[in-house]
Amino acid sequence: MSNTPDTASNKLNVLLVGGGGREHALAEAIAASPRLGTLYASHTDNPGIARVATPAGVPIDAAQAYRAQFFCRDKAIDLVVVGPEGPLAAGLADKLREQGVAVFGPNKDGAQLEADKHWAKDLMRQAAVPTAESRSFTDAEKAVAYSVSRQQPPVIKATGLAAGKGVVVPSSHKEAADAIRWMLNDKAFGEAGSRVLVEEKLEGPEVSVFALTDGKGVYILDSCQDHKRLRDGDEGPNTGGMGAFCPSTLIDDAAMDRVQREILLPVIDSMRREGIDYRGVIYAGLMLTSAGPKVLEFNVRFGDPECQVLMPRLASDALEMLHATATGNVENLELAWHPGAAVCVVLASEGYPEKPITGQPITGIDEAEAMENVFVYHAGTKLDKHTGGVVTAGGRVLGVTALGDTVEDARERAYAAAGKIHFKGVQLRRDIALSRGEAPKMASNRQG
Ligand code: AMP
Ligand code: GLY
Repeated sequence: MSNTPDTASNKLNVLLVGGGGREHALAEAIAASPRLGTLYASHTDNPGIARVATPAGVPIDAAQAYRAQFFCRDKAIDLVVVGPEGPLAAGLADKLREQGVAVFGPNKDGAQLEADKHWAKDLMRQAAVPTAESRSFTDAEKAVAYSVSRQQPPVIKATGLAAGKGVVVPSSHKEAADAIRWMLNDKAFGEAGSRVLVEEKLEGPEVSVFALTDGKGVYILDSCQDHKRLRDGDEGPNTGGMGAFCPSTLIDDAAMDRVQREILLPVIDSMRREGIDYRGVIYAGLMLTSAGPKVLEFNVRFGDPECQVLMPRLASDALEMLHATATGNVENLELAWHPGAAVCVVLASEGYPEKPITGQPITGIDEAEAMENVFVYHAGTKLDKHTGGVVTAGGRVLGVTALGDTVEDARERAYAAAGKIHFKGVQLRRDIALSRGEAPKMASNRQG
């Protein structure tokens, strides 16, 4: 990989921000594009990303945005792709757009959709988007009084960004009250938990829907399902996601139509009316209830590990897709997808999610990657300074994805590949893509 920026008019120089498994999947997809000039990345301490990208060599964040701005000018960057929500919520995209750089990922105002659940609920209410009923509180005792007035113990959510940990689904009113006081009085999530939502508990299977938008056009990607609990059978603590598969078998074309009509388009229209120029992906976390799909949350980024099943299935040019979204050309997007399915199995460290034990040598990655239609994405790994070997460096360590003709095929291959990889204390679920849930009969289904 050359260090000289490619300024030939047809090629695009890209800066990728973020350093997890999601960003490794994006990096591989971007690197495969014939339109790529040079791919730079903020986090080449991830050995997977380092394989295909040149280190940016300067911090790329909103706090020192002038450095990122200078970097983009200096290297003639045509497109910045921001993987995680943090930099978007902090306004990195705003600063880069000020310079005329195309960015995949919304400005700070659009990022509120994920970073401020109170704001997102208001937007949904105004747009009549189906979501769980809720009220927001800054005073713990008022929140508790409202909570106990509900028949069912409600779900308690910190309204700010809490790294996926700010949601408690209590099984009793006492647990709900404890969670409220823990967030508001004990400041469990600091500022992010200075306001809580007390929300009606919904029932049903969950799906993740991803829509590319430039604020005008919308392109909906295949739906995915992830497995959030640590252990088989959806037992154990919530995690960032222990595996995913795509497409979901829960949502048919009729239901997806409904999601587009009742959820995605109204939210995008509302943001546009508020003057928000949203360019990137909207990730709708949905619960399929007997009354139809309802929103649990919105995110302003790809899911992790959902991205690790979406990218390998994309047969079209990923860079063209990201660039079209960032430059307002979603309307003209035509994407081809590999038929069949993708399954990703996450290998996590011992002690994850509470206290991951790191520094364990990993073997077998090469053998797994040598298998046909298998992709190993690095999430929490690094190169050991002394041995040069790959060691564990985080909670979720690797995502092992396989493509197959069917979910069963892909599943079998993903587990065969995962079985070749070893490190001490590895945790993985054995039922990824096996328990796929059952779609409730919905009012709009003809058979329902
Ligand atoms: P969130 O970060 O809002 O997606 O919440 C994390 C997880 O909590 C979701 O994936 C659901 O499993 C669960 N959850 C969130 N909100 C609700 C709700 N209103 N009813 C039931 N479960 C919920
Ligand atoms: N897989 C869940 C998330 O990315 O939030």
